[in-house]
Amino acid sequence: MTASPLPVGGRIRVDNVSHAFTTAGGEAPTVALENVSLEIGVGEFVALVGPSGCGKTTLLNAIAGLLKPLSGEVSINGDIVRAPSRHTGYIFARDALMPWRTARENAEIGLELRGVGRAQRRERATATLESVGLAKYAHAYPRQLSQGMRQRVALARTLATDPDTMLLDEPFAALDAQTRIRVQAEFARVLEGSGKTVVLVTHDLAEAVLLADRVVVLAPSPGRIVCEVTVDLPRPRDVETLRFDPRYQQLHEELWLALKEAGHDHD
Ligand SMILES: Nc1ncnc2c1ncn2[C@@H]1O[C@H](COP(=O)(O)OP(=O)(O)OP(=O)(O)O)[C@@H](O)[C@H]1O
Ligand SMILES: [Mg+2]
Repeated sequence: MTASPLPVGGRIRVDNVSHAFTTAGGEAPTVALENVSLEIGVGEFVALVGPSGCGKTTLLNAIAGLLKPLSGEVSINGDIVRAPSRHTGYIFARDALMPWRTARENAEIGLELRGVGRAQRRERATATLESVGLAKYAHAYPRQLSQGMRQRVALARTLATDPDTMLLDEPFAALDAQTRIRVQAEFARVLEGSGKTVVLVTHDLAEAVLLADRVVVLAPSPGRIVCEVTVDLPRPRDVETLRFDPRYQQLHEELWLALKEAGHDHD
């Protein structure tokens, strides 16, 4: 018997992307990204960190096809990204669940939009809810779930459509410290070995080091990449205990210094 092939993630290429926003007031435009180039391999987990306003969300939006950069281009698996793709999943800080739908009905949304039949939809949504530890809550409404559970429903909803690439913009930002650690561990468990390519935007250096294969640091004005650090911690990682590992602490400190430098005003 041959093993079934692993699902294949997207290979992302950001090529010399620049973007600026103009305001109605007629002030000088904000250069959100300047000559940003980045390659992310199939199945790689990359975290984007940097001070507020350095262009993390703008870059993620460009990769998602939600924003067309003024110059440069983004491609996934060789195809230039011009619009949102069904192969790319996106999760925001706030879960954006529909309050009138149960967890399972929320998890079905992506499949519904793709015209997947009811029975198959249910089966997939039930399975992905189970994979994020929410099997018992399939019939609960968002108001009956904690914020951490709601983020996991959002994850299930995205996983149900089996995207090659997952783009996460501060998905744990609204969670309290304890819940955040548990949900991070859950995300790591579900995504590790899934073969999916993941790009995670976060303010939290600990989160970046615990979850990513590589951490890319951006600096603002203009938004640009200033350095990157490869996280050579073995997998699977136990995110609940890893923070006591000396190598983890070393990487954390290295990034902390890079971030401090990135936050300085270079104008
Ligand atoms: N729609 C917009 N209109 C005008 N300016 C914008 C718009 N979106 C972003 N900007 C500006 O572009 C820059 C980069 O914004 P972006 O949201 O990408 O930063 P970020 O790194 O995600 O910040 P944060 O960590 O606060 O989420 C900022 O100076 C921001 O004010
Ligand atoms: Mg942002």
